[in-house]
Amino acid sequence: MKKLIYVSSGVLLLLFSCKSVQELSTPTYSIEEKSLNARIAQMSIEEKVGQTCQITLDVLSKTDAKGAVLAPCEIDSVKLQEAILKYHVGSILNVGAHTLTLDEWKHIIPAIQSPYVTGKTHVPIIYGIDAIHGMNYTVNGTLFPQEIGLAATWNTKLAKEFGEITAYETRASGIPWNFSPVLDLGRQPLWSRTFETLGEDPYLVAQMGAAIIDGYQGGKTIDDKHVAACMKHFVGYSGTNSGRDRTPAWIPEKYMKELYLPSFKAAVEHGALTVMINSGAVNGIPGHINHHLITETLKGEWGFEGFAVSDWEDFIMLHSVHKTAASLSEAYVQAFNAGVDMSMVPLSPQYKEYCDIMVKAVKSGEISMERLDDAVRRILRVKSRLGLFEQPIPNFNAYPKFACQEFKQASLNAALESITLLKNEGAILPLKTGQKILIAGPTSDNMIYLNGAWTHTWQGVDPQYNTKGCLTVREAFEQKIGKENCLFSKGVELYSEGDYEKSRFVNLEDYQQKLTQADVVVLCLGELPSTEKPGDIHSLNLSSEQLELAKLAYAQHKKVILVLLEARPRIIHDIVSGAAGIIQAYLPGDYGANALVQLMYGDQNFSGKLPYTYPKYDGVIEFYDHPKSVDRSKSGDFSAYNPEWDFGFGLSYAQFECESLTLSTDELHGNDSIQVTVRIRNNSPVWGKEIIQLYVSDDFASLIPTGKSLKRFLKIDIPGNDFIVKTFTLSKEDLMFVGPNGNFIVEDGTFTIGVGPLRKTFRYLKK
Ligand code: BGC
Repeated sequence: MKKLIYVSSGVLLLLFSCKSVQELSTPTYSIEEKSLNARIAQMSIEEKVGQTCQITLDVLSKTDAKGAVLAPCEIDSVKLQEAILKYHVGSILNVGAHTLTLDEWKHIIPAIQSPYVTGKTHVPIIYGIDAIHGMNYTVNGTLFPQEIGLAATWNTKLAKEFGEITAYETRASGIPWNFSPVLDLGRQPLWSRTFETLGEDPYLVAQMGAAIIDGYQGGKTIDDKHVAACMKHFVGYSGTNSGRDRTPAWIPEKYMKELYLPSFKAAVEHGALTVMINSGAVNGIPGHINHHLITETLKGEWGFEGFAVSDWEDFIMLHSVHKTAASLSEAYVQAFNAGVDMSMVPLSPQYKEYCDIMVKAVKSGEISMERLDDAVRRILRVKSRLGLFEQPIPNFNAYPKFACQEFKQASLNAALESITLLKNEGAILPLKTGQKILIAGPTSDNMIYLNGAWTHTWQGVDPQYNTKGCLTVREAFEQKIGKENCLFSKGVELYSEGDYEKSRFVNLEDYQQKLTQADVVVLCLGELPSTEKPGDIHSLNLSSEQLELAKLAYAQHKKVILVLLEARPRIIHDIVSGAAGIIQAYLPGDYGANALVQLMYGDQNFSGKLPYTYPKYDGVIEFYDHPKSVDRSKSGDFSAYNPEWDFGFGLSYAQFECESLTLSTDELHGNDSIQVTVRIRNNSPVWGKEIIQLYVSDDFASLIPTGKSLKRFLKIDIPGNDFIVKTFTLSKEDLMFVGPNGNFIVEDGTFTIGVGPLRKTFRYLKK
């Protein structure tokens, strides 16, 4: 039997090895679905299992005597042969310690695909990477704001453009699969990966996430300028109770359906080709064994056609961390049978053990052949839609736009529309020329604070890999107004010693002395980059040393503008009232400082709005759509909902007013729709962009309704002293909630539409 299969695979090998590399670079991009089955029928159990195995690049890299990966990175042909020819590994991920050059990729990818190209195997490798805010693992890749900043633009066109450019540069590096976007809901501000999310609102996350996916994939069959997206991390990962990474969450079914699932469902509707599974556990069930969510909901109910990849070592963790399996083999069977199609094993020798265990499990019947074939079919389908069978190695010359000016401008535009003005007392902004500016604070003079984690390295803290020629906040100010008008003193530095949360004063006398000379202080505060476990923190409060810098400046009656460069909303309540200006810059990317300075001098107008509720106290975390009962005790500071700034808040140099709100009917029936028309006026001479945010409140319902929920948004340009009229359509689906029976329902009753301060009510009747 084994021999027979070998012979028949050999026929396929011959077919592929007949093609020259020249022919292979002519894309045709699709293999008939039915031929996937023919292909699977030719494969041995070992070959099929290999397709479900993903290993990291380090496993294949040449190393020195101490085991460190050599630079430049090169593939070790002996390790490659073992992984691909002996174990039939089907997927490779990541880079080793840091960003690689385009030249390195140009050698690595052909080497990895060489067993396929030369006909020694008959399935190409799918390579995946975390290009989560631009192609951050290729030197000079265009780095955009992190997702939280992208969400603050509320601009789906920019999100799509970000996706297109990132896909282009990822493909230019020979990689067809991006582990992005994160579609987790940012509802636990302590969580170290809040900056990787698109914020707290399910509708905003779904819309922005779908736009990114459209940009990444560009269509159903993906051409050589696009990549497969990966929805992360299915589902509930971000809702951790403790705020610590990968720890358990409790999410009742009602809120799972209303809040956490919609962004993934929208992504599937937009054709997302892959999904990565939640490393944590929800309601006592590790994400990786949640058959109901992965197989029944995602693949069954929603018709997801792609494949599910585990997160890092997560098959193993069912045994070592979650303790749902007494042995590795039990763990692998649990995860695979729950519906996870590919295991990010990803180290050696664990991957060999994985393959051996899985082969045994199939032979013993613990994993059925049908289930194995289903996983392999899904993986081959994605490889086929990516055109990998025809073109495993890209034509590296087909990407002349890599890191071009147009891409940099797109990143700058995204930063300009993202950075959010939270306070502007006495019109301190725009800054005036001739003012002496002290640029201070720990995040003011290093690119790492503009980019955050997943930038050149995993934690993003090593400045030696910063993109050359990009400007820190200090440098951008010096370029704009001349060094002679700038003073600089850091005052505090952030450092890691065991954790990433340490800060200490540096040369405080210098800071105090420079304060005396300054007209305005631009105080850059924030966090040392970090993500996942290393990014766990004990409290949301910003470090006392950083707060002290602000207080010292206030004590000298200085005009202070706080610039926040942070991965999550850190509590700054003690220094809010003393500040003249406050700007949330999030993690704005390589051109973030240019954008910041253009905005602060009024060359451009602010238009970003918070994609999350900014808390005032770290003991009071609530979200904008809280039920009314959250506010019931007392008003003001005693209400549980009393944030520093509301979701959707952000100022502009223009003055916008929602002048009118009209409904097409005051009674909506059955499946009919209702038109909501709003007129927004710009009451200033200054051009600006405004975001129309349309909220719906269910006035009374059988289960307590949200106070309000975002249902539509639109970013629009309004010239000075002008107005714009827009109409939105709502229907029954926008009024639904998960009722007592666990399904989405709509009830008769009154609903209130809110845009800005205006409200209008209508009645819905099922008949
Ligand atoms: C992260 C994923 C990431 C993967 C591969 C994991 O630790 O949770 O988001 O895609 O590593 O780098």
